Amino acid sequence: MQKTLTILKPDTIGAGRAGAVIASIEEAGFRIRAVRMLHLTRGQAEGFYAVHRERPFFGDLVAFMTEGPVIVMVLEADDAVSKLRELMGATDPAKAENGTIRKRFATNIERNAIHGSDAPETAAVEIAYFFNRLEMV
Ligand code: CMP
Repeated sequence: MQKTLTILKPDTIGAGRAGAVIASIEEAGFRIRAVRMLHLTRGQAEGFYAVHRERPFFGDLVAFMTEGPVIVMVLEADDAVSKLRELMGATDPAKAENGTIRKRFATNIERNAIHGSDAPETAAVEIAYFFNRLEMV
């Protein structure tokens, strides 16, 4: 079993679609191992997305991720990292497959509903950013 980190982004929470997204995650076979809802500070969002700090969209990304609360979860499944990325669909919802979370719930490449770790090593770092061992079941 592998773990990955997901964030239901402020657009998803704001639209009242958190339950629908969590349902599709569970229906796809993931187990939720940890969950927390929080309103990221600017510093917390900048820290989480530090690898993107030189990208032209970084300022907009941080503004978006701090505009309202998010739900952060640790998910577990066989091949959780790639399985979640498949379920999420392409970063740009216009390019996402039908039935994927981003095709169903995202607005555009920035307001794209959900984040998922891009590799097992990244997942370990991202999980540790939000959760300690006592907070995972
Ligand atoms: P996420 O998977 O959370 O990782 C980085 C985020 O940057 C991405 O989803 C998008 O929400 C956001 N983003 C905004 N513009 C772009 C872009 N041009 N390319 C990639 N990611 C972008």
